Amino acid sequence: MSTIDIELHSVSKKFGANRIVKNVNLSIPKGKFVSILGPSGCGKTTTLNMIAGFESPTSGEIRIRGRDQNGVPPEARKIGLVFQNYALFPHMTVAENVGFGLKMQGRSRQEIAAGTKRALKSVRLEGFENRYPKELSGGQQQRVAVARAIAPSPSVLLLDEPLSNLDLKLREAMRVELKEIQQDLGMTFVYVTHDQEEAMAMSDRIIVMQGGVVAQEGAPADIYGRPRTSFVADFIGKSNILPISDVGDAETGNGSLRVLLEAAGVPIMAAPMPGLGPDKARFCCIRPEAVRLADAAGALDEPANLLTGTIQKVVNLGAYLEAWLLVDGGITLKSMIRSTRLDKLVVGRRVELAIAHAAVQLLEE
Ligand SMILES: Nc1ncnc2c1ncn2[C@@H]1O[C@H](COP(=O)(O)OP(=O)(O)OP(=O)(O)O)[C@@H](O)[C@H]1O
Ligand SMILES: [Mg+2]
Repeated sequence: MSTIDIELHSVSKKFGANRIVKNVNLSIPKGKFVSILGPSGCGKTTTLNMIAGFESPTSGEIRIRGRDQNGVPPEARKIGLVFQNYALFPHMTVAENVGFGLKMQGRSRQEIAAGTKRALKSVRLEGFENRYPKELSGGQQQRVAVARAIAPSPSVLLLDEPLSNLDLKLREAMRVELKEIQQDLGMTFVYVTHDQEEAMAMSDRIIVMQGGVVAQEGAPADIYGRPRTSFVADFIGKSNILPISDVGDAETGNGSLRVLLEAAGVPIMAAPMPGLGPDKARFCCIRPEAVRLADAAGALDEPANLLTGTIQKVVNLGAYLEAWLLVDGGITLKSMIRSTRLDKLVVGRRVELAIAHAAVQLLEE
């Protein structure tokens, strides 16, 4: 059983007349890497600031390790912070930066030295003690910022877009490092980002926010494979989102549901969505990698929809080809196909497509 580190109960935040966070309920399990993911302005930082104690909720309750935090100041919450613009002190060495929090807590010289050493070991920066921030790379500086935040042994680390100032290669390397640091420490990380790949790569759980509310919450594979709304399907990864009508409530033997693609009038079979009655489904989502060429090499060993269409456009992305396929009836599907199939993808050519029933996800809005 996992214990809960942080709970939000019907938390709302207003700035003036604007309700920025609306009735948010969350449970963040201890020792997990949890991401809050959403577009700019959806209330991620505001939510994090309320957990940290920099903002107080207009209504609702925040509990940390079971205790109501109303009136508890940030420094008493045992929380570490790493923010994008939380710069290191430039005039202090790495060791002085990392030891700063411990010094503020009034720890002894030995405790500060031991805590600093431990934190620098966690972020793999032993030997950098006497350098100044300007003598470090961007990634090393961010690791020092993490070491500074974890040195006072907080039980939770809040990170707000800590990698957004780094270039792509470094960001990708740091994702792996941060995840490893989190696992080594067994510490709860709450990680705010608007980068869906980052959230997918690192998280045990993802909380998707949209306009101040939680749009969906779950394991990364769940959010990607079972999005509930077109917002989530569109925000996480690439997808074909198609309006549907006439959802048949009669299931076939394998549990699939019959839906009609509205624009094309083409019937296809979709995966049933637990908790989403056929009458509630408005759209379906088909991931581009689920649109396959229906020849021997692309054959599926599960129940699949077979469609015919014409290749409209092909973009070579190296390992993959992105192809737009005009399906008979008038809808366009985007597909991701391995580059080894390049010879099959000739613009104007007629193709048969296979899409597994299970890959057609019904969406409620
Ligand atoms: N102190 C404040 N006073 C008034 N409005 C605020 C304040 N802080 C945030 N807002 C507004 O609340 C909304 C959400 O802001 P927030 O910083 O939480 O978004 P975010 O999801 O972190 O976005 P980003 O990805 O751009 O960082 C924005 O419209 C912002 O302008
Ligand atoms: Mg923000």
